[in-house]
Amino acid sequence: MAAAARKCVCVTGAGGFVASWLVKLLLSKGHYTVRGTVRDPGNAKNAHLKALEGAGERLQLLSADLLDYDSIASAVAGCEGVFHVASPVPSGKSTNPEEEVIAPAVTGTLNVLKACYEAKVKRVVMVSSVVAVSNNANWPKGKLFDEDSWSDEDLCRKGEDWYFLSKTLAEREAFAYAAKTGLDIVTICPSLVIGPLMQSTVNTSSNILLNYLKGERDTVENKLRNLVDVRDVADALLLAYENPEASGRYICSSVPVKVSDMISILKTLYPMYTYPKKFHRSGGKYHL
Ligand SMILES: NC(=O)c1ccc[n+]([C@@H]2O[C@H](COP(=O)([O-])OP(=O)(O)OC[C@H]3O[C@@H](n4cnc5c(N)ncnc54)[C@H](OP(=O)(O)O)[C@@H]3O)[C@@H](O)[C@H]2O)c1
Repeated sequence: MAAAARKCVCVTGAGGFVASWLVKLLLSKGHYTVRGTVRDPGNAKNAHLKALEGAGERLQLLSADLLDYDSIASAVAGCEGVFHVASPVPSGKSTNPEEEVIAPAVTGTLNVLKACYEAKVKRVVMVSSVVAVSNNANWPKGKLFDEDSWSDEDLCRKGEDWYFLSKTLAEREAFAYAAKTGLDIVTICPSLVIGPLMQSTVNTSSNILLNYLKGERDTVENKLRNLVDVRDVADALLLAYENPEASGRYICSSVPVKVSDMISILKTLYPMYTYPKKFHRSGGKYHL
């Protein structure tokens, strides 16, 4: 396809676990030119992007920080669509949650949306999370969570669930911004994302899985985990972008699996590792 006929789209946080698969998918289509934002284009942790098929002619990596409006505005200028994927995903309790987690998620999202509005971007697809859905004590007991449920901000604060709070606030702000300006925003709320890693570093959700095969814990909580394959998340993001009927928010998840069943599957695939031997009953709280 001639370069002029291709559509330009931007992916924020392109070097991350989910975004890398989305960039790969977009490049594979042939009709997208992809602008990927990363904080440091020279960092070896982004090298896998440059090796993707089609990257040489159709992928441009730009340096941008979510808290630096000008860098974001330069990245989205001239783009028809933007996939806002970047957001901190902490692996433990944060010592300064406001600065480390909430500001990049919330102010960062508003920076991206404002830049998209100014650049007349046609649609923004944003990655939220089921953690913005399911931390809701008022949801009827026994009813499956759906897109009408929003995590309770006070409950997130009380539990010091800063990541949950960051995703809830960011997604709420996104829809408020859409209502105010008319910017077309669709959100995807994945559950725990697992699957092959393209990047050289281990992200938080992959680490949850890896922790089961490190032999460090004899007993684990047998919680019901909601999982989704990273390639399905990339497909969902593209579908939300390309389907004109897509609107609002979409939970993206597969069927729930008990940790004991996950470990049985892992044992079959990778028998050489040491796994937890005992499982205790889950308190039922959803993690990540
Ligand atoms: N993995 C899951 O289970 C899961 C589930 C539901 C939703 N999500 C959402 O999916 C998205 C991607 O997560 P992931 O699992 O792929 O995690 P990841 O690999 O850690 O990716 C996060 C990305 O965000 C970027 N980022 C963080 N703070 C930034 C800032 N201030 N400025 C610019 N970029 C910043 C990181 O860039 P650097 O490389 O420079 O740090 C990284 O590229 C996030 O929005 C997350 O909340 C993930």
